[in-house]
Amino acid sequence: MKKLFIKTYGCQMNVYDSARMADLLAPIGYAPTDEAEDADMVILNTCHIREKAAEKVYSELGRLRRIKDERDGGMVIAVAGCVAQAEGAEILARQSAVDIVVGPQSYHRLPEMIAKLARGQGKALETDFPAEEKFDSLPKEAAVDGPTAFLTVQEGCDKFCTFCVVPYTRGAEYSRPPAQIEAEARRMVEKGVREITLLGQNVNAYEADGVSLAGLIHRLARIDGLERLRFTTSHPRDMKDDLIAAHGEIGKLMPYLHLPVQSGSDAVLDAMNRQHTRDDYFKLVERIRAARPDIALSSDFIVGFPGESDKDFADSLDLIRAVGFAGAFSFKYSSRPGTPAASARKQIAEDVKDARLQTLQALLLEQKKDFDVSCVGRTMKVLFEKPGRKAGQAIGRSPYLQAVYAEDAAHLIGALHDVTIEAAMPNSLKGVLGSAPFRAAAA
Ligand code: 5AD
Ligand code: SF4
Repeated sequence: MKKLFIKTYGCQMNVYDSARMADLLAPIGYAPTDEAEDADMVILNTCHIREKAAEKVYSELGRLRRIKDERDGGMVIAVAGCVAQAEGAEILARQSAVDIVVGPQSYHRLPEMIAKLARGQGKALETDFPAEEKFDSLPKEAAVDGPTAFLTVQEGCDKFCTFCVVPYTRGAEYSRPPAQIEAEARRMVEKGVREITLLGQNVNAYEADGVSLAGLIHRLARIDGLERLRFTTSHPRDMKDDLIAAHGEIGKLMPYLHLPVQSGSDAVLDAMNRQHTRDDYFKLVERIRAARPDIALSSDFIVGFPGESDKDFADSLDLIRAVGFAGAFSFKYSSRPGTPAASARKQIAEDVKDARLQTLQALLLEQKKDFDVSCVGRTMKVLFEKPGRKAGQAIGRSPYLQAVYAEDAAHLIGALHDVTIEAAMPNSLKGVLGSAPFRAAAA
């Protein structure tokens, strides 16, 4: 048996792709390992979304090169994912230790590429865009790891936000047929999966064979043994009526929605080509909360987009205060080659970006803490996923995606159980099993 080490950068779609690459290589004799040092093949599944993410890949390749040299060859190094798509042959030129470069829509061809390399036919490069062919040719059998799984239902993006590389690296929107998705979900459930997160760069633009994302969720919710469904990432413009209604109609659909807004300023939203205003976002949130009053929201924010004034930034803080988020990701604007915003004249100085990011993150952290504290005393279902640090402990997720741990729960791993939340810690909630009335300890 040969050993395969996959390192995954970036989004959950890459996590899904990495798992499928492992499935693809298992039949040709590769078993997973956790160390690059003893691997026969290393795949870096890369992210191109911000400059930092892309640069990390080259420093990791430098480290791998040294390991490969020490071993006198004998290690195949592949670069997959969005850096592979965006930079292609440049990677082979910049780091000669790399043997294979394969884009996110072509990784089903990895076995062929490895064979070609073994025959001494030279390095391999594949960056075509046949998403349909990929899904048709991936193996049916998927290795599952615990009770939660990702399932990619949609890829690519047609929105062309002016800061974003995704429409270039992942290509046009493509939705997988619902029957293919349902079959994959059923196989996962047979192997013990209880919660599935449907993935797509623009997942709520999903539409295939006349079925919308709401239709797909209704269909999957009928699978016995599947207890929870989530989906990510959504664009505000694609939150259609049936999807909003689904949050009130489907108990298995978790009350937590990641709905990136990026900025609270109309001028910046316009320059970003988001195609909606801040007021549209407020109205949308109102309708979603009317359908599912206990829903918690999260978002992505960018600070320091070209031309962002102090007033624009203040509008983002104001939007955050007005909506109230249970969690969020926030980033400094990173100029990406080939995107329209990269050539905008009014780039923002790095120290201004730093200061804005700190202010924004402090506010978001405060809101996250408030949300976590508001959960104390409540009883909620937790899906236990893995053992905790101490014997008998288990860690799982609340409906709102918070990490929750409880004592004497190890026997519940893989199952849902009522947990009463006792305390909110910085990175997790502490709970006790059962729905016994909770009383805060006397001061
Ligand atoms: N700079 C900073 N953040 C970015 N994102 C996408 N492109 C950029 C960029 N050029 C962020 C957005 C998106 C998330 C996945 O990454 O907030 O929602
Ligand atoms: Fe990028 Fe915008 Fe598409 Fe999201 S919607 S992937 S931010 S272009």
